[in-house]
Amino acid sequence: MLFVFLSFYLFINTKKGVDFISVISVTNLSFQYGSKNVLNDVNFCVDTGEFVCIAGVNGSGKSTLLKILLKLLKPSAGQIAINTDNIAYLAQRATMFNPNFPATAAEIVGLGILGKESYKLRKQRINKALSQMDMLNFRNKPIGNLSGGQQQRVLLAKALVRNPQLIILDEPTVGIDTTAATQICCLLGDLNKNENATLLMVTHDIPLILHHADRILQLNPDGKISAKSPKDFYQEISQQKHAKHH
Ligand SMILES: Nc1ncnc2c1ncn2[C@@H]1O[C@H](COP(=O)(O)OP(=O)(O)OP(=O)(O)O)[C@@H](O)[C@H]1O
Ligand SMILES: [Mg+2]
Repeated sequence: MLFVFLSFYLFINTKKGVDFISVISVTNLSFQYGSKNVLNDVNFCVDTGEFVCIAGVNGSGKSTLLKILLKLLKPSAGQIAINTDNIAYLAQRATMFNPNFPATAAEIVGLGILGKESYKLRKQRINKALSQMDMLNFRNKPIGNLSGGQQQRVLLAKALVRNPQLIILDEPTVGIDTTAATQICCLLGDLNKNENATLLMVTHDIPLILHHADRILQLNPDGKISAKSPKDFYQEISQQKHAKHH
């Protein structure tokens, strides 16, 4: 029975040109806001266990691309296949918690747990996620009393609490000092290596992620995407900076 089902599944997916081992497959994707072209015939795959970053200037369509993957926006053309339901998403941050926000770090992380679970199991999962983000010591602190970097790590713990197979992050290190941002990048790198989580992350902090990421997808102003190794990408931006200063 299982064999029949699997063959059928493979047949359907092969017909659509979708790669079975990819967690994300994007084929001929285009998107417009009204008459404004944002994504223009974008193609890429993200394989299981990969750590892929999306780079591109402000307004190039990075957040839009993530929202399409999460089905929050409908593509104008093209296909998308996501091969898991267990997805965590951390949206691009707009505001900080009010200092009087009535919840502790542990309570915020607990919001990420869906369904009924025993108190003991719930506590275990919350503590595991907080320690993955090196925030266990802050579990009973009011969220509004934590620094920006600490709040962001709590939000990351909330995203991780369901052991997601695919983690989609929109600029998780923006507005955070270099020390905290470096720490977050290392923690994400560990998660990718040790838990085999697949990561897709929009970031401008390429130097910090250089040793953790497998690939960089660069969104260009013409709405096309190009894949690069982190090293090549870093060399390119360093050369551009150097040229600007001379
Ligand atoms: N809801 C919307 N309606 C119309 N245009 C939009 C909407 N959201 C975004 N845009 C436009 O689409 C383009 C892509 O926006 P998007 O937010 O995806 O860029 P981004 O690469 O994430 O930028 P940033 O680095 O600033 O976060 C921008 O030009 C933006 O002004
Ligand atoms: Mg954005």
